[in-house]
Amino acid sequence: MLGARPSHERRSEMMLVDADLRSGNGPLGNVNGSAKEVAMRAVVYSHTGGPEVLRLVERPVREPGAGEVRVKMQVSGVNPTDWKARRGGPVGAELPFSELVPNQDGAGTIDAIGDGVPAGRVGERVWLWEAAWQRADGTAQELVVIPSRQAVRLADAASMDVGASLGIPALTAHRCLTVSELGPRKLTPGALHGQTVLVAGGAGAVGHAAIQLARWAGARVLSTVSNDEKARLALAAGAEHTVNYRTGEAPDEIRAAAPKGIDVIVEVAPARNAALDAAVVAPNGTVAAYATDGGSGLELNVRELMSRNLRYQFVLVYTVPGAAKDQAVADVAVAVADGALEVGEHVGLALHRFPLERMADAHDAVESGAVGKVLVDII
Ligand SMILES: NC(=O)c1ccc[n+]([C@@H]2O[C@H](COP(=O)([O-])OP(=O)(O)OC[C@H]3O[C@@H](n4cnc5c(N)ncnc54)[C@H](OP(=O)(O)O)[C@@H]3O)[C@@H](O)[C@H]2O)c1
Repeated sequence: MLGARPSHERRSEMMLVDADLRSGNGPLGNVNGSAKEVAMRAVVYSHTGGPEVLRLVERPVREPGAGEVRVKMQVSGVNPTDWKARRGGPVGAELPFSELVPNQDGAGTIDAIGDGVPAGRVGERVWLWEAAWQRADGTAQELVVIPSRQAVRLADAASMDVGASLGIPALTAHRCLTVSELGPRKLTPGALHGQTVLVAGGAGAVGHAAIQLARWAGARVLSTVSNDEKARLALAAGAEHTVNYRTGEAPDEIRAAAPKGIDVIVEVAPARNAALDAAVVAPNGTVAAYATDGGSGLELNVRELMSRNLRYQFVLVYTVPGAAKDQAVADVAVAVADGALEVGEHVGLALHRFPLERMADAHDAVESGAVGKVLVDII
């Protein structure tokens, strides 16, 4: 558990605001504005850099425009993409916006709607995706105005913690599981029946979502890990079998567990694992590579891969084609309603919580390789 305040905290220059706002007694709390909200707390940054560029400020509350909803945030989820965007290039570099609120993922309740949005959406619990992608308005603030499409109904039984953990990890995992030639484009229970999936790094946030989604869709799921503790986490998420990729026996162990080969590899480290992947992927199988952990230069033996008609699919969640993104959002929402995408220690994804004013610590935790999910409580 990441309870201790890390050393960089001394560098943190977060500006604390009005005590009433911090304690939640400020002008917030109304639904659809009977007492009009005028100000809210937000974490922002104005130039790239380390966690110390994050500042807690007070901002005016914005009304949603046509096609938009306003979401009263409860939990913001932090992903590696959030600190990578914040660092994004040389320290002090210009940003596309004068002030940028970080974090793509989060969950909360719709408190106001713009023209063209059904009135029934007010009061709806939702999870957000890509809130900060090419926008200045991420989820690290009390009220987020966002296109209605990017605020998805959260199943009644699902917690806000689940909602804040979905966007980046689950949509990336969905893409990886739906790009093979012989596999489905849509995930439903049974859609991956008969397929064997290998999730590299099953104790990671994306790996965790991939294990859960693949299991929900009926696949056999194996996972690679670096140690026994991570094996325990991947098994708790639903993997049938784990293999330590750092031992020389990993290819033999995977082949023993899946003699016909792996149909889809959900790959976090394509360069480092290239030889392993080539050794275990089945004919007509797919390596879906979504990260460059361990290096971005990838050397492949084309003749060897060609002879088995293998497919390499590179995945960046932000630029997935629109129809595939819509399908992923819809399928993930159904999986959540089915209880298939849980979070917490008991399912192999420990939660590490921070209050809004410690957003810098939350970013630092992710950047330092926290095992599990880092969440920030907004209220
Ligand atoms: N392309 C996209 O759209 C997209 C979307 C989401 C995330 N990402 C990127 O994907 C990466 C992971 O994100 P995350 O949120 O899942 O991070 P995370 O929670 O830190 O998980 C990363 C996992 O990968 C494991 N790993 C590292 N090297 C490995 C290797 N050679 N073989 C197998 N496992 C390995 C790590 O454990 P060990 O080091 O102990 O093995 C860790 O469990 C980040 O770089 C992130 O920026 C990309």
